[in-house]
Amino acid sequence: MDAATAALAPPRPSVDQLLALAERDMAGVDALILEHMDSSVPVIPALAEHLIAAGGKRLRPLMTVSAARAAGARDDAFRKLAAAVEFIHTATLLHDDVVDSSTLRRGKVAAHLIWGAPSSVLVGDFLFARAFELMVSAGSMRALEILARASRVISEGEVLQLTRSHEITLTEEMYLEIISAKTAELFAAAAEAGAVSAGASEHTIRAFRTFGMNVGIAFQLVDDALDYSGAAGALGKNPGDDFREGKATLPLLYAIARTGAGEAAFWNRTVGDLQQDEADFARAQQLVTSTGALAATMDLAYDYADRAKMALAGIGDPVWRSALCELADVAVSRSA
Ligand code: IPE
Ligand code: IPE
Ligand code: MG
Ligand code: MG
Repeated sequence: MDAATAALAPPRPSVDQLLALAERDMAGVDALILEHMDSSVPVIPALAEHLIAAGGKRLRPLMTVSAARAAGARDDAFRKLAAAVEFIHTATLLHDDVVDSSTLRRGKVAAHLIWGAPSSVLVGDFLFARAFELMVSAGSMRALEILARASRVISEGEVLQLTRSHEITLTEEMYLEIISAKTAELFAAAAEAGAVSAGASEHTIRAFRTFGMNVGIAFQLVDDALDYSGAAGALGKNPGDDFREGKATLPLLYAIARTGAGEAAFWNRTVGDLQQDEADFARAQQLVTSTGALAATMDLAYDYADRAKMALAGIGDPVWRSALCELADVAVSRSA
């Protein structure tokens, strides 16, 4: 983009406003994360640090912090919940990269390729356990219940996805059920737990949960679109992983439906039977683009981001609320 075009283009949504508001809280959350990834067993901090020091967007703990502040939190117990949320997320990433045979995560070689799958899975368990210690010390039985439930639902979503891979006839409804469980539930629980820890009303708690759920669905829709259109440098993970695994994501399902009998043999071979050669991903990319499957997936993501913003109408502190609405926009406009 040249300077003149850049000057005309609307500003790209960013979480800058939210990060500025949440700066002190997020620094507190990071300190808790660093403190709790420690262990006297050597491989644990090394492996955990490999992933955690690589960064990550920290969107889920930002949800917890912002929901708590927007709902008028009077103490900072929510920081422990936010750190727990990031630990749950990081644990699922360690497990997910083993399950998906992914080789790149947060721009680094995936941990299982360095320390092996067994260590990666076990350190994932360690991070889950740390999350539960943090949640207990935050002192809210209700927040503990929300995040414990989310941990269970994520596992159910991942297993459900595993058993429905390669299904080129998967319905959009089933796809949405899978992503709601494996991804959106943690966004929902992160926001809900923040509101609970602030002592918010039931109405406000429900609004934050709905906000998180819709942001989470939008986020995963975009993640699945970026797997066909993104670049490894920006994403920090390899595009094409979903296709190579035969994962039935929405861009693929839309492209399969739109190409009909003409490409049935191609999809059956590459996704159904997982018989692929080097050139197949490029052809799949071309088909998801030319059929409008990618654009339709993005349209649906924008719908969910709008639903998220609507759920917050009139809820909580207006400054935090507007920053949270930016987070919903970022979930869909992101390239990383
Ligand atoms: C990756 O989530 C897993 C998905 C649900 C797609 P993020 O893209 O939020 O991962 P990090 O934490 O920023 O690395
Ligand atoms: C992300 O699923 C959900 C969890 C990690 C639980 P994906 O498999 O789509 O995420 P990426 O693409 O590996 O980040
Ligand atoms: Mg994966
Ligand atoms: Mg993905």
